[in-house]
Amino acid sequence: MAKVIFKDIKKSYDDVEVVKYFDFTVEDGEFVVFLGPSGCGKSTTLRMLAGLETITSGEIYIDDRLINNVDPKNRDLAMVFQSYALYPHMTVYENIAFALKLKGMPKAEIDVEVLKTSKILELEPLLNRKPKELSGGQRQRVAMGRAMVRTPKVFLFDEPLSNLDAKLRGVMREEMKELHRTLKTTTIYVTHDQIEAMTLADRIVILNEGYVAQVGTPTEVFQKPANKFVAQFIGNPAMNMIDTKLIEEAGQWFVELETLRIPLPERFTHQAKKDLSVCMGIRPTDIHVRAEHIDHDRVFECPVTIKEKELLGASILLKTKVGKADFVVEIAATEVVSEDSKLFIDLDAIHLFDSATEQSLAL
Ligand SMILES: Nc1ncnc2c1ncn2[C@@H]1O[C@H](COP(=O)(O)OP(=O)(O)OP(=O)(O)O)[C@@H](O)[C@H]1O
Ligand SMILES: [Mg+2]
Repeated sequence: MAKVIFKDIKKSYDDVEVVKYFDFTVEDGEFVVFLGPSGCGKSTTLRMLAGLETITSGEIYIDDRLINNVDPKNRDLAMVFQSYALYPHMTVYENIAFALKLKGMPKAEIDVEVLKTSKILELEPLLNRKPKELSGGQRQRVAMGRAMVRTPKVFLFDEPLSNLDAKLRGVMREEMKELHRTLKTTTIYVTHDQIEAMTLADRIVILNEGYVAQVGTPTEVFQKPANKFVAQFIGNPAMNMIDTKLIEEAGQWFVELETLRIPLPERFTHQAKKDLSVCMGIRPTDIHVRAEHIDHDRVFECPVTIKEKELLGASILLKTKVGKADFVVEIAATEVVSEDSKLFIDLDAIHLFDSATEQSLAL
């Protein structure tokens, strides 16, 4: 096992900077997910660690060893790609055994290793099949097996589940998690799927346009997004965002919401400035149609027009308007809503971002 240190990393292709600044340490045994939209630099960062891309500037260490100039095959990493890249003419057994054979391991030992790994991955009944005779999920497990037998210091995964259907992705997520619990190998996992990130990661690194937008546990990035980008990227349906400003009257601060004034929760007041342009964020699940379960001194009540109702199964999405502002609200399907329903906003769940810097005012 090992820790991985990225120090002041930058990457440019000609004069285009694609990784602008990446400085981060993956701790020994940790499962870290790089998450972000397409093109933000996730794969490039992973590939620099793997030695498949040159590093424009900065240093990468595995434990204390600087690896910038170490040959990829001597970095002691194993990478699984989205495409799996199995050898089509080889059986499952041969695919898994390949790296060990190259190393010159005796046949009897290879046998032991391949059987041990295929047992963990439940591939034993499939060892004589060729990749084309396997389902997507089975191929994915073979690709993992090939990486595992090498007992690398670090596992690297680049969108390994994105070719699978939703149900199989769910199953494979469980298996990945279980595998990490068993092997405890330091793992870096790249995805643009927030559910994968939330369910798998010890910590998530959220990237945007070549920068780190936030690092945190799944709970931290969901509950305390450091900026507007993270707030909108994490959570589905997305957080409601309303452009507004702060006002002060007789020593009390408010957020303006149409003709209404929402008292500013205390955690924001240290950064409050008169007429500061802010963006108020509130998750669809933090707006309610009943207020009984929220303390009355931290609930804000507002009149609403309900435009549309969408039944999602266990929940209902309401498309609503408070004045001119749009609010999406998610409530349990068992809730009753009528024409004259009101919305109750949980003040503890409000987020505020400075419109100019897009940073949270609660930091
Ligand atoms: N060989 C290359 N030459 C020039 N630009 C490149 C090259 N490889 C990648 N890029 C650019 O670098 C940026 C980052 O690419 P990267 O593959 O790291 O994105 P990503 O975050 O993995 O996205 P995705 O989710 O789509 O896989 C992109 O804008 C991409 O177009
Ligand atoms: Mg990629």
